[in-house]
Amino acid sequence: MRDYPLTSTIIKLKTGRVQLTLIKEPDWFLEQLSREDDEGKLYLPYWTYLWEASIALAHHVENLGARLKGTQVLEIGCGFGLTGIVACQMGARVIFTDAEHEALHFAESNAEQNGVRQNSDFVQMDWNTPCFNCKFPYILAADVIYEEHHWTPIVTLLQNYLTPNGIALFSEPDRKNAVGFFKLIRDNGFRYRKSTCPVTLDGKTAQVSIYTVQRMSVAGN
Ligand SMILES: C[S@@+](CC[C@H](N)C(=O)[O-])C[C@H]1O[C@@H](n2cnc3c(N)ncnc32)[C@H](O)[C@@H]1O
Repeated sequence: MRDYPLTSTIIKLKTGRVQLTLIKEPDWFLEQLSREDDEGKLYLPYWTYLWEASIALAHHVENLGARLKGTQVLEIGCGFGLTGIVACQMGARVIFTDAEHEALHFAESNAEQNGVRQNSDFVQMDWNTPCFNCKFPYILAADVIYEEHHWTPIVTLLQNYLTPNGIALFSEPDRKNAVGFFKLIRDNGFRYRKSTCPVTLDGKTAQVSIYTVQRMSVAGN
């Protein structure tokens, strides 16, 4: 990790808590790391914040509890790693992935400080070019569908890496464009259930939507 000011926070759960090391001044840091891609489009590495969506998904994952025990979980766009850490606490083995190497460093160090490093792996992976030769019964995705150009690669990743009965869990802070992503999900042979979870972060409460996504071929529940 680079030499810059850090801070820490504790996320309280029903069954325990997660202590996270975060970047102290994420706005400043985001600006430092912003860059243009090959087409001149501004790229902002949003991993520098802990997002409400990951807190909501962490609570949801905690509620899955024993169902996760012994399962292999893939987290995409893990950022600081909160959601995957809670999955590890529930007994899963988690592969944390993010396109950003530095985000993975934070996720790994956060896993370490919460005692779940031995149940986890950390892989730098862009969801446009996934690199696994196995499928996963659970895929976790907190706040990764904010830009439309991410949608098709993420749906393709589900098609290729979710087991036939697998469950992908998405969370996002009720952005208008999420409707488009979930239409694409449906058009590609998946169905979903939506629930909401209020999250308070930095004194502000936001509604986060949680989507449980499965293949249409799986019997409904
Ligand atoms: C809004 S942040 C969410 C981070 C974390 N899941 C959370 O909710 O706090 C989006 C995350 O996706 C990652 N990301 C962006 N584009 C990506 C790509 N093409 N492949 C993999 N990860 C990507 C970013 O580095 C960042 O960690």
